[in-house]
Amino acid sequence: MLLILLSILFLSPSSAELAVIGAGWGRTGTMSLKVALDKLGYKTYHMVEVIERNPHHKAMWTEASRRHVKGEPVGEILSKILENYTAAVDFPVAAWWRELSELNPRAKLILSVREPERWYESASQTILPDPWLLRMLDTLSDVHDPVLPVPDAFWDRVLGEGRRNNITREEIIEEFNKNVREFRDFKLPDEQKLELKVGKDGWAPLCKFLELGDKCPTEPFPRVNDRTDFKYKIILPIVIRAVTTSKILLSVVLLGLASVLYALRCLTRKMLRRRERKSETEVTGGLPPSCLLALVRE
Ligand SMILES: *[C@@H]1O[C@H](CO)[C@@H](O)[C@H](O)[C@H]1NC(C)=O
Ligand SMILES: *[C@@H]1O[C@H](CO)[C@@H](O)[C@H](O)[C@H]1NC(C)=O
Repeated sequence: MLLILLSILFLSPSSAELAVIGAGWGRTGTMSLKVALDKLGYKTYHMVEVIERNPHHKAMWTEASRRHVKGEPVGEILSKILENYTAAVDFPVAAWWRELSELNPRAKLILSVREPERWYESASQTILPDPWLLRMLDTLSDVHDPVLPVPDAFWDRVLGEGRRNNITREEIIEEFNKNVREFRDFKLPDEQKLELKVGKDGWAPLCKFLELGDKCPTEPFPRVNDRTDFKYKIILPIVIRAVTTSKILLSVVLLGLASVLYALRCLTRKMLRRRERKSETEVTGGLPPSCLLALVRE
């Protein structure tokens, strides 16, 4: 009984303190890492947690960035945001790993790594570009989604204020490499730092690092299609929210749908008439002008 109690106390990561902090930037396999850590019993923070479960965190991350820019302390707000989690990976957290390590001195740090050129390829198609189209949709929406300033906040933290929109490929790859160098030089002992090639290294180095003994899963290491996730879990909800909360956008979308349906109906009629024509040698189509207009638009 005592043994069970002790093992629950020490093995289940249930304290408010973070046990694992991810220092790897977004697009280095952070989603697979989150799923893996969750399987190991951690409650792991990730950008999808902000969007799916904690919309109120969006403003908190922006506030953390504002405080940082002003030179004010950020410890209190970071601890507050992560109070319900025992592990945290991906942006925005990865922009703050140094501060989080200070706040949780016993936490282990994991740097998810990826070949820098490949990282750039992926990031430049997902999290790096300024989401001007989403911003535009959001401007038309009647309920603004405060998730859009969050990427600004973490990019400002890692690259410097406003630099995201004015940075070359070489410059950002250098910043990416700098993060790796700073991780290697960070003052923690080696047993508290791990570099992980997510998707290549498998469970073994992670389990050893987290001292799981023989409790390491035997199933394959999670491999989450991050790019699909990015589209459906991060971009799509913003678009849906913008469209459903904006009278203008909703009208445009409904109008678009209506004209497509109308055009389809016209097309079907036209085809039916063609068939009739074959037998009756009728020459004129006889479609109403509005229908023709819809067909031209099609
Ligand atoms: C932590 O969880 C509690 C209970 O669900 C909730 O009320 C609180 O808002 C959460 N904290 C944060 C910062 O989200
Ligand atoms: C963009 O960056 C270059 C060099 O890094 C700098 O000289 C220039 O002023 C910047 N432009 C803007 C609009 O910030």
